[in-house]
Amino acid sequence: MNLKFNFVLSLLSLGLSQNSFAHIPTDAKMQPVLTELSMLNNLNFPVFYSDKELGLGMAWLTPAQQQKISDEMHARGKCAGFEVLDDQAVASARSFSEELQGIRDNNLKNSKYQYFTPARSGLEVNPMIQEAIMEVRAENLKEKVTWLSSFPNRFHKSEKPNAPVEAMKERLEALLSNAKMPFEVSLIDHKSTPMKSIRVRLPGSTRPDEIVVLGGHFDSIVSSVFGGGSSKVAPGADDNASGSANLFETLRIVSQKEQPQRSIEFFWYAGEEAGLLGSAEIARTYKDQKMNVVGVLQLDMTLNPGSGPLTIGSMTDFTSAWLRDYLVDINKAYKLGVNIINDKCGYGCSDHASWYKNGFSTLMPFESTMSGINKNIHTVRDVIDAKSNFDHSAAFARIAVVFALDLGNSTQASVF
Ligand code: BES
Ligand code: ZN
Repeated sequence: MNLKFNFVLSLLSLGLSQNSFAHIPTDAKMQPVLTELSMLNNLNFPVFYSDKELGLGMAWLTPAQQQKISDEMHARGKCAGFEVLDDQAVASARSFSEELQGIRDNNLKNSKYQYFTPARSGLEVNPMIQEAIMEVRAENLKEKVTWLSSFPNRFHKSEKPNAPVEAMKERLEALLSNAKMPFEVSLIDHKSTPMKSIRVRLPGSTRPDEIVVLGGHFDSIVSSVFGGGSSKVAPGADDNASGSANLFETLRIVSQKEQPQRSIEFFWYAGEEAGLLGSAEIARTYKDQKMNVVGVLQLDMTLNPGSGPLTIGSMTDFTSAWLRDYLVDINKAYKLGVNIINDKCGYGCSDHASWYKNGFSTLMPFESTMSGINKNIHTVRDVIDAKSNFDHSAAFARIAVVFALDLGNSTQASVF
């Protein structure tokens, strides 16, 4: 049986179209490799896509990493043990499925299949950053989402709205206890909500006044139409334990690197679900204090691949064109293998809108397009379930790692 063939076919049927392969450069150091999933997991290599039934996984690996697999396989008495995916592998799957023909001409929104964003260039690959994105671990995200969604709720007006906030602060301090750079963890009081926001600031080494912001809301809600209230269970796994976990993982990795030249600030906002409350006060204060915020990344819902694994939305309202282009460049340069589709919330749907309204540049990559929206958010059913995909979510942590380390060391100024 041709396992590779079946695997490629399963990739295609899951919405990773044939074009995904066409855009992977063959001359670069990292190559898309197909091998046993257990091998990738044992060696701690980030898995970009896996088929658990077939026991196979795909990962972008350097020649040295490929050698490691080869050595390990030999030690187990097997030869080679992996295959670099090539055009032929894709072509055999392609000819099998008539249904995939002509998808280029289809309207993306109506198509069951999506294709990868065309190449842009302009971002130089930094080996330090390339290494950093390899450190993102889906299992770390799972651990954090499991933990955060096990609080009864993270409602901004619960009896003890700051109990989960304090617990998160403790975990952040523990995480940072071996940081390789200075840091400040603070709780931010608000006028409009009793819940506090959390900020972790990594001051820049040479240009601390230039700030790169990464944020997501920490609170959860069950809306009144679903019987919500202050004492109700609101797990908020996707909305937004997932983005909160991505930020935690990003901080874990970034805080172990060389101190960035610019300041990096991580926010876990309070009261987003009640009207962007925490972020509105923070963005207003930053504007009033004439802070130089270069760019703001918002991570809100990253766990549910409603438009297919690794297909994500890039919201075009209340966000900045130069940062949306930057996202496309990041994906291309660092071979994240993400299919980015522009879409709209249609309103200020999350905290990026608070920043944007105060004149700052923003970016909001989202777990799917709006048509693939997770219908369980704001209900007691927003828990980790069969649809949750931590490999999908890991792509957002990789985006965030590049956003922090590349923008955090660049001289790129905000463009309006
Ligand atoms: N995560 C959602 C926003 C969202 C939902 C974006 C679905 C894209 C698709 C966020 O937590 C939220 O619920 N926002 C509120 C708006 C806010 C002003 C109260 C919403 O969408 O109702
Ligand atoms: Zn929400």
